[in-house]
Amino acid sequence: MKSEVGPSCVPEGRKKLAEDAPNTSSPVEHGNHPTPFQMGQESGTVFLNLVFTLRNPKTRGLSRAVKLVEGFEAQISYLESRATRTSKADGDNLDFFLRCELPSTGVGPLINSLSRVVEDVRAVREEKVPWFPRRIRDLDRCQRLMTKFEPNLDQDHPGHNDLEYRERRSQITSLALSYKQGDPFPRLEYTADEIMIWKEVYTKLTSLYPTHACQQFVDGFRMLEKQCGYRADSIPQLQDVSDFLQERTGFRLRPVGGLLSPRDFLASLAFRVFQCTQYTRHPSSPTHSPEPDCCHELLGHIPMLTDKEFAQFSQELGLASLGASDEDIEKLSTLYWFTVEFGLCKQNGALKAFGAGLLSSYGELKYALSGEPQYKAFNPELTALQIYQDQTFQSTYFVAESFEDAKSKLRNYASKIGKPFSLRYDPLTCSVEILDRPHKIKEALAQLRGDLKNLCSALDKLC
Ligand SMILES: [Fe+2]
Repeated sequence: MKSEVGPSCVPEGRKKLAEDAPNTSSPVEHGNHPTPFQMGQESGTVFLNLVFTLRNPKTRGLSRAVKLVEGFEAQISYLESRATRTSKADGDNLDFFLRCELPSTGVGPLINSLSRVVEDVRAVREEKVPWFPRRIRDLDRCQRLMTKFEPNLDQDHPGHNDLEYRERRSQITSLALSYKQGDPFPRLEYTADEIMIWKEVYTKLTSLYPTHACQQFVDGFRMLEKQCGYRADSIPQLQDVSDFLQERTGFRLRPVGGLLSPRDFLASLAFRVFQCTQYTRHPSSPTHSPEPDCCHELLGHIPMLTDKEFAQFSQELGLASLGASDEDIEKLSTLYWFTVEFGLCKQNGALKAFGAGLLSSYGELKYALSGEPQYKAFNPELTALQIYQDQTFQSTYFVAESFEDAKSKLRNYASKIGKPFSLRYDPLTCSVEILDRPHKIKEALAQLRGDLKNLCSALDKLC
């Protein structure tokens, strides 16, 4: 069975995330390094939480401290006093908690200067929100590769003893690692052996699609064949596929060197970016890849990403992941696994596949629709807790009534994820905005009112 298990882009859901991404739960991160401050609203700024003590605060000590802070272009958003609890305390001393936003370069100098005016200055952590990308170019920082299934390190990888294959993989991985947002994609000249693998996988899978794939996939695949150069004897280039997708649903691709951490992979979906490998699986095992390869990405994933409803569903999974706790990332990864990778849906009274892990695996695609495994209705609260493993076929598949239904349930599930903020994606700037100020919410509402007015007007014209 192992030889035909479908690969997946997010392999670590409900069991192993904690050991693979140990840093992501650190309180308040800036990049990958835990710090007592977090990125600010403006580019190059940070939020800083300071605690300090003032002796005899009835003097002008506080106003001097505030003026000093403001002198570093800092905007103070919160200031609180409390009775000091240090051993030096006497009735007149107070501790102050101050929160401000300032240019990141000013943090060290500010603390040094403040230390000359007040006592016991220290930066403290306040919120437990992991760092997440705000702009599409921040995805350049989301490159935490996982070592699982990597041919140089994994002795069970079919290419582990093939030095030529490992060399080719390293070459393609290097190209992906040096990629920056906005660069043209590397165009690969695939070898005859690589094209032969693609052809074998392509031919076998396309024989099943008409009967096993959902209608959205079949329609998308047909479009890719007609308009994007999909055919058995040529591996499409990522740049061409990305350009095509962007016109259809606003999704774009990004080359990636291997398996990403679940947090980084999900974060890219929030920006309608799909991280895509370019290498092919090892020739000794054309029907099986323990990891995602270009056959899995281009055949399994891309056709579904041409569908607007599915694209929206994928982005909402990504948006739900931004700033989520490790526990919630684990649940969202599991939801991704049982939908985007191994999801089934009902169409015209029959089960059809929409998951890429199935639609890129001849053996598991047939098995999943055979009636042999267990089927459960997609329910995010329950699906997120389902245990799975990635070395054999799934014992249970989840069935969505429709993408619209799945999206609605997911949106409801995401609204219950505990985060100290709400956010909104701006498609014009490809960025996410934290809705933490009344004026931002008012601006978003004004835009929504404009859109609603336009839609009502269009409806009136039709009636
Ligand atoms: Fe995948």
